[in-house]
Amino acid sequence: MTTVLVTGGAGYIGSHAAKALRAAGYDVVIYDNLSAGHREAAHGLPLVEGDIGDVAEVRRAIRQSGATAVMHFAAWLVVPDSVRDPLGYYRNNVSGTLGTLEAIAPEAVQQFVFSSTCAVYGEPRETPIDETHPTAPINAYGQTKLAIEHALPHLERAHGVRSVRLRYFNAAGADPEGELGEDHTPEIHVIPRALDASRGGAPLEVFGEDYPTPDGTCLRDYVHVTDLADAHVRALRYLEGGGASATYNVGTERPSSVREVIAAVEQVTGRGVAWRSAPRRPGDPAVLYAAAGKIRRELGWQPRRAELTTIVSDAWNWHAKHPRGFGRQAAR
Ligand SMILES: NC(=O)c1ccc[n+]([C@@H]2O[C@H](COP(=O)([O-])OP(=O)(O)OC[C@H]3O[C@@H](n4cnc5c(N)ncnc54)[C@H](O)[C@@H]3O)[C@@H](O)[C@H]2O)c1
Repeated sequence: MTTVLVTGGAGYIGSHAAKALRAAGYDVVIYDNLSAGHREAAHGLPLVEGDIGDVAEVRRAIRQSGATAVMHFAAWLVVPDSVRDPLGYYRNNVSGTLGTLEAIAPEAVQQFVFSSTCAVYGEPRETPIDETHPTAPINAYGQTKLAIEHALPHLERAHGVRSVRLRYFNAAGADPEGELGEDHTPEIHVIPRALDASRGGAPLEVFGEDYPTPDGTCLRDYVHVTDLADAHVRALRYLEGGGASATYNVGTERPSSVREVIAAVEQVTGRGVAWRSAPRRPGDPAVLYAAAGKIRRELGWQPRRAELTTIVSDAWNWHAKHPRGFGRQAAR
């Protein structure tokens, strides 16, 4: 049985992917420094606490687990932080990942699945965005991901490690079984923030209402985290079957506006969402959504929980049970 080392597996998307890998029959070892992850998100799977930049520790984890594949989720991902602290982002996301790659290179690891992002495209020239769209990130976060995308072909030439780079759009939702969910501090994503506002938390800030979109708010492509997890399992199977290294967008191809998110949250929770207008944020394009035909055709991937109300409802389920996040269940 293949063992997969899942870096960042105590985080939001990595924990869902670890669960999907187990369900698909893989052995999983999570590797995470818990800087943004949660011990509880490992949900009983073996967890090695360590930094991705620690070559010796990653190598030890690979040798001890016998992993022959790595899924690499570990990174920092808060765009404004990356603008304020670009060197920190380069250190964690680029130097850290190079440490993991250095650890992998001489080992038996043959497959590498990398969490990339639509932020590598920068300001879109046209939408929907397919994989041939030029890559021109407009912030340090996107640049750090692109730097690793560029390093991977060299690793393959020198060491034979094939890779799939998955460029996700906006990950959202939660495990439909309610075991896992999104718990970021601070929370930067619109759906959990809107859910929080519906429970009496801080009003949701709507950044810009004068975009050239039907209701004036930004359009984004929300992809369910379990659909993302499924894309990872498919990517790994593809590589195991001898597939060549490849890059895929992962999105639903259906853009939703911030106002539509608010309406979906109100419909699902039966509560009003307090919100207030805020100025546009620099670098926020009006419309961002994926053309995902390539992953559909080549990996047979299909988003199964693409409806916005399904995404919100799964997220609400988890948030209602864990109002203060992992390990802290609601009293009732
Ligand atoms: N959430 C999204 O919408 C989204 C969109 C596109 C791409 N991505 C990418 O997906 C990946 C996972 O995102 P997420 O939302 O699950 O984030 P997350 O913060 O929930 O998970 C990241 C995990 O990586 C760990 N980590 C960070 N730096 C580490 C280091 N140096 N050593 C070891 N562990 C470290 C954190 O502790 C955390 O558990 C990231 O690479 C991110 O760039 C996310």
